[in-house]
Amino acid sequence: MSLTQYYTATSLDGFIADPENSLSWLFTRRQEQDGLLNYDEFIADVGALAMGTTTYEWILDHEFAGQDPAEWTWPYDVPCWVFAHRELPVVPNARIEFRSGDVATVHPEMVDAAGNRNVWIVGGGDLAGQFADAGLLDELIVYVAPVTLGAGAPLLPRRIELDLVELGRNGDFACARFAVVDAPVAPDAAVVDIDAAVVAGIRADAAVPRVDAAVPRADAAVVASLRAGLHAAWTHRTVRAVLLATIAMNTLFFTYQHMLPVFARDVLAVGPEGLGALAASASIGATLTVLLLTLLPATAPRRSR
Ligand SMILES: NC(=O)c1ccc[n+]([C@@H]2O[C@H](COP(=O)([O-])OP(=O)(O)OC[C@H]3O[C@@H](n4cnc5c(N)ncnc54)[C@H](OP(=O)(O)O)[C@@H]3O)[C@@H](O)[C@H]2O)c1
Repeated sequence: MSLTQYYTATSLDGFIADPENSLSWLFTRRQEQDGLLNYDEFIADVGALAMGTTTYEWILDHEFAGQDPAEWTWPYDVPCWVFAHRELPVVPNARIEFRSGDVATVHPEMVDAAGNRNVWIVGGGDLAGQFADAGLLDELIVYVAPVTLGAGAPLLPRRIELDLVELGRNGDFACARFAVVDAPVAPDAAVVDIDAAVVAGIRADAAVPRVDAAVPRADAAVVASLRAGLHAAWTHRTVRAVLLATIAMNTLFFTYQHMLPVFARDVLAVGPEGLGALAASASIGATLTVLLLTLLPATAPRRSR
């Protein structure tokens, strides 16, 4: 299977060229030709290249300095795609395609041309990043030079998650191969879900005080509706009559059962036969009182505006 690889050398602080586009910091370092992740083995598996304008111009300037363009000999025999927005000098008889815009639309051509070999993103860092953005970058192979540059062309100006696959030393360089961690749809969606859940949790937490605060409001509402119900009941004559009659009957029953016998015996000095007449007259009096009260107009409180 064809891989798309970004193979490059970088300073320790992440620059692939210094601010003057010089690589002098790189070529002065020692490396073993047959050492770890060496160029010869790497390029043997490369079937297509991609580079940006600056890298292409760097090759023109350094490979062909002082030569007549007709004598230029392109150093690669595999097809190369140069991404540029402007017209650039053409190397005669070279398999170079100039393209502009979305790297993803060009990538299938490159993979096709590479056959079962790999696609090498030569540089710069942002171009490699464009392939990564499109999910097309598989590997990053770096030679880290023991130098810091402070400024220059960035190695890979993106946040990309990587797995360290191979690590070692070649001459002065620390070398590593990283696999680009795919951005799988499901885990990403899960992360979004988790984020959403966290946000929802935070919102729920934030809502707790509001729920608590709502409790007194709910109590107040219940009390208010009870009050309104009682008021409505009280102002309804039938309901009021039933309530009053119930109270009157209970009072009468209590009086008849407990108080009247004592009153009749000790105060009136009547026997059980006088007790019935006493209870009947008390009942009639109480019922009349209830009826009178029932017929009174309702005393509804005035509504305030
Ligand atoms: N350390 C190493 O092993 C190593 C390896 C490779 C390169 N280098 C060096 O690193 C430096 C990299 O330069 P750089 O960061 O400027 O990157 P670059 O990719 O070489 O050049 C960037 C330019 O390429 C053009 N470009 C990029 N993407 C494009 C697209 N999708 N469509 C059209 N045009 C596009 C744009 O130029 P225009 O708009 O001007 O056309 C852009 O400004 C160079 O000095 C190079 O020599 C070092």
